[in-house]
Amino acid sequence: MKQKVQITIDGKTIDLDVLEASEGNNVVDVRGLISEGIFTFDPGFLSTASCESKITYIDGDNGVLMYRGYPIEQLASNSNHLEVCYLLLNGELPTSDQYQAFEASIKEKQFIDKNFQNIFNGFTQGAHPMSMVGAAVSGLASLYHEETDIANADDRMTTAHRLIAMIPTLAAMAYKHGRGESFVEPDPSLGYAENFLNMCFGETGKPSAVSKTIADAMDRIFILHADHEQNASTSTVRMAGSTECNPYAAISAGISALWGPSHGGANEAVLTMLQEIGDVSRVGEYVKKAKDKDDPFKLMGFGHRVYKNFDPRATVMEESCKAVLAELGVEDEPLLQIANALEKIAREDEYFIERKLYPNIDFYSGITLKAVGIPTELFTVIFTLGRMPGWITHWNEMLSAPYKIARPRQLYLGEHKRDFVAMSDRG
Ligand code: ACO
Repeated sequence: MKQKVQITIDGKTIDLDVLEASEGNNVVDVRGLISEGIFTFDPGFLSTASCESKITYIDGDNGVLMYRGYPIEQLASNSNHLEVCYLLLNGELPTSDQYQAFEASIKEKQFIDKNFQNIFNGFTQGAHPMSMVGAAVSGLASLYHEETDIANADDRMTTAHRLIAMIPTLAAMAYKHGRGESFVEPDPSLGYAENFLNMCFGETGKPSAVSKTIADAMDRIFILHADHEQNASTSTVRMAGSTECNPYAAISAGISALWGPSHGGANEAVLTMLQEIGDVSRVGEYVKKAKDKDDPFKLMGFGHRVYKNFDPRATVMEESCKAVLAELGVEDEPLLQIANALEKIAREDEYFIERKLYPNIDFYSGITLKAVGIPTELFTVIFTLGRMPGWITHWNEMLSAPYKIARPRQLYLGEHKRDFVAMSDRG
């Protein structure tokens, strides 16, 4: 029998349907409440399902993350980022022919219009690459607005391929511009992660010098970040997209949301924090600050809104991180020693244990990126590259079925109606 929830409003009992999830929590359908003259209140959407989705499943209590039903650990060990992009977009793993066609489509679309590249000249040197990447992605609308019909499934898929193809090129251009260096063209003979690293750190005309270990670690970071159901940036993309705005603009809104230190900016914030701590001897002092209710300081890279036991991505990333550190022989690097000491204290301290605050993926990805020599300002850009297939898949899923413009309500606590007072009569 179908589950129901009953609520009573001023003596009147209302039956609310419970919608069944294929995995995890069922949800109470509260849509009918509006006709009863009452709204639900859920700041931060902690208890609210904002949509139906078939893309990604998270069980935060048991540390489970699956893309299209496949556990993240299996994808991180056996797949590559482009295959994961295909899986997210299409719902199934590709056959060999499908994979080759997808890869060819991405490689063909990696190049950025020469005139459009001038957009970077408008930015000051040293500007944060996230500001440039957000603007450049939004700017792509100027190239493709007329030919993109968001009601057409083929056009939506072309948009998805373009964004997955172009984001590494734009990200690398932002980085190069920030350093006052000339752009390096995409090289279709290289894998997705290697090509990105070569465009950042290579030189035009010279063969790629990116090591396989570093390219593999980067590809894994992309896979681990590829989607995370209705997180802040993905919900932002859905919300902006629900207005039927241009998809490049909707994705740019997601990039802005990702930039914050409570979300994608956390991996950069981890490194900034480790630099601020400066020495292993000061770790205790910073742990004390993090526990002090009167101090706004938080340990960056610890805690998660959804994972309250462990973050499965952090487990995979920790493994990669340790392998990379061992291969590079940099375990003794001072910042990494501080990170180790922090991790140890936080895992043993009652405050962190009680609140289920474990190192999250950003903690280990931040350390890995630092160890392989990636500049800190690129960390969140790398998250952006990884998350692109997730954002665009959610946007496509939303537009593929009936949807409504996202328009939350509020609990108004402001003034009652009052009359305007002329300035000369104000106290
Ligand atoms: N350091 C110290 N204390 C913390 C931390 C932290 N990193 N995170 C949470 N707490 C404390 C809170 O102060 C609160 O304590 P209280 O119960 O005594 O009031 C308790 O733990 C619960 O915290 P909430 O803020 O309610 O947890 P929420 O789920 O809202 O926030 C968040 C999660 C934003 C990730 C938070 O843990 C945080 O700011 N962490 C640091 C930033 C970070 O690493 N972000 C990356 C998130 S992962 C990602 O985007 C891929």
